Amino acid sequence: MKVLFVTSEIAPLIKTGGLADVSGALPAALRAIGVDVRVLVPGYPQVLAQIASNEVLATFSDLPGFPPSRLLFSTLHNGVPLMVIDCPVLYQREGGPYADAYGHDWSDNPLRFGLLCRVASILGCGGTPLSWHPDLVHGNDWQAGLTGAYLSVAKEAAPNIITIHNLAFQGNFDSENVALLHLPPESFAIDGIEFYGKMSFLKGGLYYAKHITTVSPNYAREIQHVELGFGMQGLLQARSRDITGILNGIDTDEWDPETDKHLAFHFSSQRMVGKAKNKRALQEQMGLQVQADVPLLAVVSRLTHQKGLDLLLEIVPRLLDIPVQLVVLGSGEKQMQDEALALAARYPDKVAAMIVFDEGLSHQIEAAADMFIMPSRFEPCGLNQFYSQRYGTPPVVHSTGGLADSVVDCTPQTLRDGTASGFVFSGMTADNLYAAIMRAVMVYCNEAQWKQLRKLCMNKDFSWETSARAYRRVYLKALGRAVEFAQD
Ligand code: ADP
Ligand code: GLC
Repeated sequence: MKVLFVTSEIAPLIKTGGLADVSGALPAALRAIGVDVRVLVPGYPQVLAQIASNEVLATFSDLPGFPPSRLLFSTLHNGVPLMVIDCPVLYQREGGPYADAYGHDWSDNPLRFGLLCRVASILGCGGTPLSWHPDLVHGNDWQAGLTGAYLSVAKEAAPNIITIHNLAFQGNFDSENVALLHLPPESFAIDGIEFYGKMSFLKGGLYYAKHITTVSPNYAREIQHVELGFGMQGLLQARSRDITGILNGIDTDEWDPETDKHLAFHFSSQRMVGKAKNKRALQEQMGLQVQADVPLLAVVSRLTHQKGLDLLLEIVPRLLDIPVQLVVLGSGEKQMQDEALALAARYPDKVAAMIVFDEGLSHQIEAAADMFIMPSRFEPCGLNQFYSQRYGTPPVVHSTGGLADSVVDCTPQTLRDGTASGFVFSGMTADNLYAAIMRAVMVYCNEAQWKQLRKLCMNKDFSWETSARAYRRVYLKALGRAVEFAQD
């Protein structure tokens, strides 16, 4: 089975969040179980600078509405074949994949990601210039959302599926883009890409996909209701039978406390001294008091409303009295950044805030901290709760989305039966978060229980294999290979 995997970011080449982690790891896991996956990404400068070869697979010199582009071929470090759209007019600029250095979205994003979808649709139909013909096109998030609309009028079109990583980001733009992107005019309809008068990449993705997946079973249910449906709940309810929630896995080579290249001290569930050394090193580096026995709380996150960190920042003074220390690595909304920096300035030996994106530091914080805080208002899956469990750093999470699917609240019962893996609170209030952290600190103070909890966390299996098999079943279903589907 051949699958074209379409994504707007991929680790380690370009990353703003969890989509990059998934795109960096899932294709390799699929190839390991016999699916011939190739990845298609835009040629941002960060990508072009890191790919080994510049083998040109095709040129697209006269796609109506789009500047000329070339399709380059390379192979990722993990053996996954990568196809890169080199279009300097659209992608060759300083800044991030979606926004400039000041956080302003690129005004030509419809064209930038329209091209990604357009090229995906060419590669996924009978007219492809390549000898490699995918059986299926697998798009991710809104940036790949128009692929199905283009394919709807293509000859010998492969079926397409879409994965929702975050329904809050929809790629909704003025309707004039329908003509600018040379989309089929009839696609601008309620049964198509139209969404409250705008053209919507994601709405189109959900409408035209043969099957829809999202990144946890719980989120698959949540998005079918008004609270977390972001206006798409009606369509999603109507397509309920075509929606599957598949929990993300993690790259267990990249995130391995025994071998992690970003760590000065390695450790394992059998030998935890390295973790204590990482904690000491981080406390020194961040200018925190070097105290082995004070719980070190950590956050690595986009600082946005979704992530609920306003609740944490609100209770920091109360938390410091317990006592605890806090380290925050993140960037995002200015007000939240400023509040984190103000707390660090007010309590320099207890709170540290780093407003940057730093992959290495994120690994070091996972390794050094005692507890990881994720009070997300909603969370399609979340990845840091996996990383932190693997690094013996029990997460404290709000019961939502994938967090509810992947963290088991620590109680005497769950410690006994060996399922405990963190602390879960319901009810999105600062007091409830405080109470959950308090519970975590109580267990931390009981050395035997804390050791046991950390061990349970570290021995869990978060590898991609099970989820890759679930994706393969979805592919088979979308291809109508129901017999194999039932047997797999
Ligand atoms: P989301 O994709 O919604 O941001 P996830 O938990 O799925 O949330 O994934 C976020 C990813 O981005 C994780 O790998 C996390 O470690 C990483 N990350 C977030 N902020 C930073 C940062 N400031 N520096 C380094 N890594 C970060
Ligand atoms: C999104 C979600 C996050 C998820 C990630 C990867 O960014 O916000 O919860 O883990 O995608 O699927």
